[in-house]
Amino acid sequence: MKTGQEIISEDIFRRIGLAADRIQMESYVVGGFVRDSILGRPCKDIDVVCIGSGIALAEEVAREFDLPDHSVSIFKNFGTAMLKVDDWDLEFVGARKESYQRDSRKPLVMEGTLEDDQNRRDFTINAMAVQLNQSNWGKLLDPFNGIADLKSKIIRTPLEPGITFSDDPLRMMRAVRFASQLGFDIYPETFEALQKENERLEIISMERISEELNKIILCQKPSYGFLLLDACGLLARIFPEFVKLKGVDTEEGKGHKDNFYHTLQVLDNISQHTNDLWWRWAAILHDIAKPQTKRFVKGKGWTFHGHEEMGARQVPSIFKRLKLPLNEKMKLVQKLVRLHLRPIALSKEEITHSALRRLLFEAGDELEALMTLCRADITSKNGDKVKRYLRNFDLVEEKLKEVEASDSLRNFQPVITGEMIMQVFDIGPGKEIGLIKIAVREAILEGSIRNDFESGWPLMIKEGEVLGLSPVFTLPEFLKSIS
Ligand code: CTP
Repeated sequence: MKTGQEIISEDIFRRIGLAADRIQMESYVVGGFVRDSILGRPCKDIDVVCIGSGIALAEEVAREFDLPDHSVSIFKNFGTAMLKVDDWDLEFVGARKESYQRDSRKPLVMEGTLEDDQNRRDFTINAMAVQLNQSNWGKLLDPFNGIADLKSKIIRTPLEPGITFSDDPLRMMRAVRFASQLGFDIYPETFEALQKENERLEIISMERISEELNKIILCQKPSYGFLLLDACGLLARIFPEFVKLKGVDTEEGKGHKDNFYHTLQVLDNISQHTNDLWWRWAAILHDIAKPQTKRFVKGKGWTFHGHEEMGARQVPSIFKRLKLPLNEKMKLVQKLVRLHLRPIALSKEEITHSALRRLLFEAGDELEALMTLCRADITSKNGDKVKRYLRNFDLVEEKLKEVEASDSLRNFQPVITGEMIMQVFDIGPGKEIGLIKIAVREAILEGSIRNDFESGWPLMIKEGEVLGLSPVFTLPEFLKSIS
């Protein structure tokens, strides 16, 4: 286990200590840096707490590093100051006593001692401080046995958990997040408080909740965090649609998969192959509409017909409620949910070129994500079945590559554009243009024509004539007009 002096061995701490001594201010490095240093996790964020003004200390530290005054960002309302030195992010704050009113996030803040400051922190492992002043250089102050909890891998609040959580209910999400990131257990008393107090999360903004949820999703084995969230009741509070996936119905002696545990398995599987948050979100949501689409068909068994389309349609409202971005990331998730059965369906039937072309066209740049999701979606306990499916996928992927190489269809835009149709038939915008474009695109996807002018032109003319239009150019004339 590292000593206090080893924790602050970097030169930057010596210089912060020198600055603090010059203005005769007790100061300590505290919280996440101390925890991560002991755990051997790299950390570039340094929180410094001092007995006095954090802003004054930040300004003195800036002088120590010959940095101009304006390099210190001051947040007067919070009494904090931030400063960047090389690639270190420093934050300075005076030790405080804080108390929150029950129904509000607005704290009453008063100056306090180091002990007050440590008392108001979230977990024992985040409440350790190491002194930076020369007189007590490297003295570790660990009033709640954070070191012991780090060793025994426990998340525990320093005070009675009800107090710590009512000070800031987001800490309930943080408890699960730290447990998942570090692979720790939550101390029984702390866990009971999560179960009892979880309705307090209501006063916390969804943005902050989702930020923690996303950190859980980005863990190595996200199912661990989800199971904890579920066990303490937080999951039902923040993400009820997910909890609805739970349960197995049986009819005529036939059951179906429990989609809650299946989805968690898919999430863990995909997490072994990608750190992309949105690919992981697609795994979380891929079967989200199964509860609403569940039917038992006599003699056949359980079906979830159309769950991929219904699920895709639910993505925007789920993103909106969870305050996740309503941008192209959401569209990616939606696309993956919508298409997630397509490669599986392909691998089961005779693979036609037109089906492959359609998949390439629709998946576009998301093909790799889609194939990764589909592979992750195979969660059968039957090892042979899994192997057989994966082999079929290899085959689908090989064929996709072949079709892609021969047709360059990924992201393809038909060469026959709306502009071109308007010019050739000398018409303005109108529904004919859409009809001709669809006819050309379908013919390309079916493989009956190639995606070039020579093949597309006759079809465009034919379709135009069916609609009563006459061309005002021949192909050579048109090519000349645009060259
Ligand atoms: N803290 C707290 N309660 C919170 C948030 C933070 O007590 N709701 C304290 C903890 O002591 C924490 C420190 O403030 O260690 C810094 O907070 P933050 O930067 O959010 O967390 P870290 O512990 O540094 O971890 P991470 O960077 O992974 O969020």
